[in-house]
Amino acid sequence: MNIIVTGGAGFIGSNFVFHMLKAHPEYRIICLDKLTYAGNLSTLEPVMANPNFRFVKADICDRDAVFQLFEEEHPDIVVNFAAESHVDRSIEDPGIFLQTNIVGTQVLMDACRKYGIKRYHQVSTDEVYGDLPLDRPDLFFTEETPLHTSSPYSSSKAAADLLVQAYHRTYGLPITISRCSNNYGPYHFPEKLIPLMIANALADKPLPVYGEGINVRDWLYVEDHCKAIDLIIHNGREGEVYNIGGHNEMRNIDIVKIICKELNKPESLITYVTDRKGHDMRYAIDPTKIHNELGWLPETKFADGIKLTIQWYLENRSWWETIISGEYQNYYEKMYSNR
Ligand code: NAD
Ligand code: TYD
Repeated sequence: MNIIVTGGAGFIGSNFVFHMLKAHPEYRIICLDKLTYAGNLSTLEPVMANPNFRFVKADICDRDAVFQLFEEEHPDIVVNFAAESHVDRSIEDPGIFLQTNIVGTQVLMDACRKYGIKRYHQVSTDEVYGDLPLDRPDLFFTEETPLHTSSPYSSSKAAADLLVQAYHRTYGLPITISRCSNNYGPYHFPEKLIPLMIANALADKPLPVYGEGINVRDWLYVEDHCKAIDLIIHNGREGEVYNIGGHNEMRNIDIVKIICKELNKPESLITYVTDRKGHDMRYAIDPTKIHNELGWLPETKFADGIKLTIQWYLENRSWWETIISGEYQNYYEKMYSNR
């Protein structure tokens, strides 16, 4: 089995590459990644010498490069993680989100049509459903919930999902889509909530909580997400959408307090800053379909996963310290100074 994994130098994609090489040592995994600010080749260092792994630096929007790779590798499956993924960046500058997340998806699917494929899997997000009110804890996102997006990021992901479904209906492309809630774990880029708070707390820097910190996210350990995608590409039904989430809703402020406690840092570091524009209040996934059809259940409880994650950041300081010492400083200055 030849599998192209796009975006495999990013957070979830790299965890997926590691998972697949371990779970299916006989498969060949080809990682295609543009190495944007969010992609790190050093992350893939442990598998670079594996004869069943190949890394190719390319943009999913580059039709010639993508078609050339299909010509060389004749993949059986494509799993598309490649995306611009940060909501705050999409609010600052939406253009690249539309380009990579929508046009890039189209280019990949055109290659699948031309060369043939057993499965094209689109890694999507629960953010395509918009948000839920805080005072209705009985409501959850199901696969039937209408798409209703808030940010340029989520709009670009929803547009891609619609295009993927159109390629299934119009051209019969064998597709699946997964929509997962917020992930956390090793190799999470330090601009996102959990790694940002860990890095700042370790440096005794302010912990910038947007608004009142009462927004709710449904957190899933990244390894559980990878296992779900593995199940979907093998056993999921063609043309179907699968929601992935672990019924682990947490308020942002509570996450930040847990991180303070685990690192033995004072909560006085917490600083409330101006809220995100259009900030989604609550995400919550109903994972009944993937559980009933594919037997998937999350394995890592948040109480354990957050400890594992913090431990990983403590043991892998050079990975994230290299990132935050570079271009990231300009980003941080732009987004957080005078906020
Ligand atoms: P990430 O930002 O950490 O990684 C994205 C990767 O894609 C990087 O390696 C980057 O270099 C690569 N990339 C970006 N543009 C590219 C292009 N034009 N061509 C080739 N490669 C390109 O993102 P992530 O958090 O790992 O998310 C991966 C996928 O999962 C995304 O599609 C995202 O929408 C989805 N998702 C993320 C979460 C989450 O909590 N992080 C939750 C649900 C879904
Ligand atoms: P984030 O990790 O950006 O994921 P998403 O917006 O895709 O859910 O943010 C998670 C939550 O944390 C979100 O409600 C915004 C909030 N947040 C902060 O309060 N402070 C921060 O510095 C960041 C990056 C996020």
